[in-house]
Amino acid sequence: MAKRSIGKIAVLSVCFAVMAFSIHGMFGANMAKKKNDIDQFLHHATCYYAISLMPFLGFSKQKSERPDSSLQFTSTDISLARKLDSNDKLRSFRDKFVITDPNTIYLDGNSLGRLPKSTIKYMQNVIEKEWGEQVTRRHMGSRRERVNAKLAQLVGAQPEEVLISDSTSVNFYKLVVAALQLKKDRTKIITADLNFPTDVYILEGIIKLLGNKHELVFIPSDDDITIKNEAIQSEIDEETALVTFSHVAYKSGFLYDMAKVNQWAHEKGALVLWDLSHSVGAVPIDLGDTKADLAVGCTYKYLNGGSGCPAFIYVRRDLQNDLENPIWGWLGAQDPFITPRYKASPGVKRFMVGSPPSLSIAALEPALDIHLEAGRDNLRKKSIHQAAYLIYLAEQWLFPLGFELGSPKNPEIRGSHVALKHPEAYRIYQAMTQSPPPAIKVIPDFRPPDNIRMSVVPLYTSYNEIYLAMKRIREIVEKNIYKQYSE
Ligand SMILES: Cc1ncc(COP(=O)(O)O)c(C=O)c1O
Repeated sequence: MAKRSIGKIAVLSVCFAVMAFSIHGMFGANMAKKKNDIDQFLHHATCYYAISLMPFLGFSKQKSERPDSSLQFTSTDISLARKLDSNDKLRSFRDKFVITDPNTIYLDGNSLGRLPKSTIKYMQNVIEKEWGEQVTRRHMGSRRERVNAKLAQLVGAQPEEVLISDSTSVNFYKLVVAALQLKKDRTKIITADLNFPTDVYILEGIIKLLGNKHELVFIPSDDDITIKNEAIQSEIDEETALVTFSHVAYKSGFLYDMAKVNQWAHEKGALVLWDLSHSVGAVPIDLGDTKADLAVGCTYKYLNGGSGCPAFIYVRRDLQNDLENPIWGWLGAQDPFITPRYKASPGVKRFMVGSPPSLSIAALEPALDIHLEAGRDNLRKKSIHQAAYLIYLAEQWLFPLGFELGSPKNPEIRGSHVALKHPEAYRIYQAMTQSPPPAIKVIPDFRPPDNIRMSVVPLYTSYNEIYLAMKRIREIVEKNIYKQYSE
């Protein structure tokens, strides 16, 4: 409840108490025949008082349908971008990242996040001292535990439910096999057209490996942007072993309703596996509160761990000892060197396989600290605001040039990237990234057939950059610059 509401409740309560006290005082117990009237009056007054409190307690009749006015923009002048930057409470976080070229606008943080300055110093110490001078792995175990705990905090899980290891693809493989083994009597796997290719390929490979007993069902997207809740709910049935989606769809940025999907799956006894690669660090995630079963995700996009930084795996605590890692490596075993035969380690540790990439895990720690310092709700608020600004400029300047929105407009169902579609998207993308100086470079991602995908990363993207990027795209199309590039 907001502080202002608590204040209003306090004022109302004091007024009510003073009024009740005065009425009793004025008429006293000796005016017995009036007492009934007074009691009745006080009864009504109490009811009105309770009703007047309801809006402050969150019992409003209906949620306001009015659009959020802070997301309405009315100027395409650069002065607005500058003003938004100077009012931005997270502005100082940009200085924590290495940004060397003022003529390059980087909007690809959902592929590879920028390098935090603190990582350089931290890694210098790890490499020179721990590896160089001491030749030790002594700090690696405790650092891994700390990184697991910080990751867990970011995704709303317990530290003992999260493990950093391997790539997203390998972790996805381990969890799919484990889930299908646990739900042996069920044969349906549900995913979606919008899912990332590696997840689909791995599912297909596992189905083949397990003797083609499973049916892979794709929930279609009517608009290539979103998936309808009803389509998901009606597909999940008693045959369903596993439901698996990318929490934020890699192309359109569509954000699934994690709590609802978990609930529908659990009602039918199915498990859910989330790929959080495009949502971790980009939107608040509550694996614990939403009762998520399983998840994987990468750390080199919004989490700024650097290229090749290992992925993470999440397994809800009560499921851990029922699930079996299909890759029986020594570090997932209970007593390597003591027991000659494999016995799974208890807890999430059983999902480890071999030696973890300790240097990359070390590189993740300072980056996670920045995220935790900024606060995920602050980041989400700014991300929504910046994406709304980007969409506003696109509507004003780019839609008249043949662009369309390839992402949901509603921020409640969108992650932190925005896709713009254009029949000439590939050539426009080349012009954005390859035009020689003095033109500014704008680095988005291209996703076939026609998507230019741009992420806003509230830790380091500025409003000014969004402004300049949109203006540059307009210039590329208006002046036919893109026609110099091959189709
Ligand atoms: C949603 C999603 N899942 C999985 C992957 C693959 O991750 P990895 O290369 O770590 O296996 C990616 C890579 O970009 C991704 O975006």
